[in-house]
Amino acid sequence: MTPLPKLQQIPADIAAVVDYEPFARERMAPQAWAYLVGGAADELTLGDNLAAFGRVRLLNRVLEDLKGGHTRLQLCGLDLDYPILLAPVAFQKLAHPDGELASVLGASAMGAAMVVSTQASISLEAIAQAAQTPLWFQLYIQPDREFTRELVRRAEAAGYRALVVTVDAPVNGMRNREQRAGFTLPEGVEAVNLRGMRNLPPSVAQPGASPLFGSPLLAHAPTWKDLEWLQSLTRLPVLVKGVMSARDAARAVVQGIAGIVVSNHGGRTLDTLPATLDVLPALAQAVAGRVPLVLDGGVRRGTDVLKALALGASAVMIGRPYVHGLATAGASGVAHVLHMLRSELEVAMALTGCPTLAEIDASVIWR
Ligand code: FNR
Ligand code: LAC
Repeated sequence: MTPLPKLQQIPADIAAVVDYEPFARERMAPQAWAYLVGGAADELTLGDNLAAFGRVRLLNRVLEDLKGGHTRLQLCGLDLDYPILLAPVAFQKLAHPDGELASVLGASAMGAAMVVSTQASISLEAIAQAAQTPLWFQLYIQPDREFTRELVRRAEAAGYRALVVTVDAPVNGMRNREQRAGFTLPEGVEAVNLRGMRNLPPSVAQPGASPLFGSPLLAHAPTWKDLEWLQSLTRLPVLVKGVMSARDAARAVVQGIAGIVVSNHGGRTLDTLPATLDVLPALAQAVAGRVPLVLDGGVRRGTDVLKALALGASAVMIGRPYVHGLATAGASGVAHVLHMLRSELEVAMALTGCPTLAEIDASVIWR
């Protein structure tokens, strides 16, 4: 089936973020769809990210004074209107011909910060030029460390405001759904920012390929030492993305990391990792406010944002939801997804008696 054309207008029956999913599915090639929505192996973590939010119940608080309420915050040097960012998602041309350029327009319209993937299908410079909103650069430390240094220099020169180093995917998890769908990158979609890199190894464990250990994939996999090297290269704040244990979080803090993204990569790396919401309290305890925690994975409602903040996050990121908006209606779809989540968050805050983010704490969670 050929994908349907993109919509020029937002359909009136889209009332929630999840309503975009069927619209997006009809507007993407089935292989690209499998790449977008899939998780590792049996997709238990993928499902659990969503289920974890569903298990938590909120408790309302009535008759609070809500005058002067707002959702502003400061995060690693950014002044944000609300605590929802766009997570790094690779190859957005799979969802829309304008790819990341459409996403950044949507983010700009809504004043949301966007984290641009190392594996973006548009150059990091072109995205920065189109942006009217702050950008962070998601970095995969490459086997070619000189090339990595150059990527950092390019991100700095283009005006990116922080680096988000993703550390949970030295190899991708076995994403069976992709494999079954026969996903490969189509003509015209590539990791343009990595052009010219020496010895580009396969970033995805190939089905039936020789064993992992002893392969170049792991020989160059980054370590804490490489992270330190990276921090020494730049004056930008460096966040790590993909931390799930209190132990690793504590280590990152000791190493002077500016922020931690509590993430299981949207269930795409190690299947059977717990949901991010379920590990969040332990990380919050270990970090004890020394650096901000940003949570991603399964955020689909404003109440999800509230729950994450109540359990210790400073902000959240969304991945698939905005790409569903992108695939359906380009920049307007992305903006609409952000708009719905933001509006839902404000309603949830009002109903729990929290006029500002600072007021959100564990007391809004029903036990
Ligand atoms: C991702 N994610 C990701 N993360 C990253 O650090 N670099 C990347 O290039 C990508 N690429 C990517 C592609 C696709 C198709 C998806 C769905 C995800 C992970 C992403 O940043 C984020 O952690 C999850 O998407 C969050 O989960 P939800 O919101 O999709 O449930
Ligand atoms: C993924 C890699 C690109 O999740 O991070 O597809």
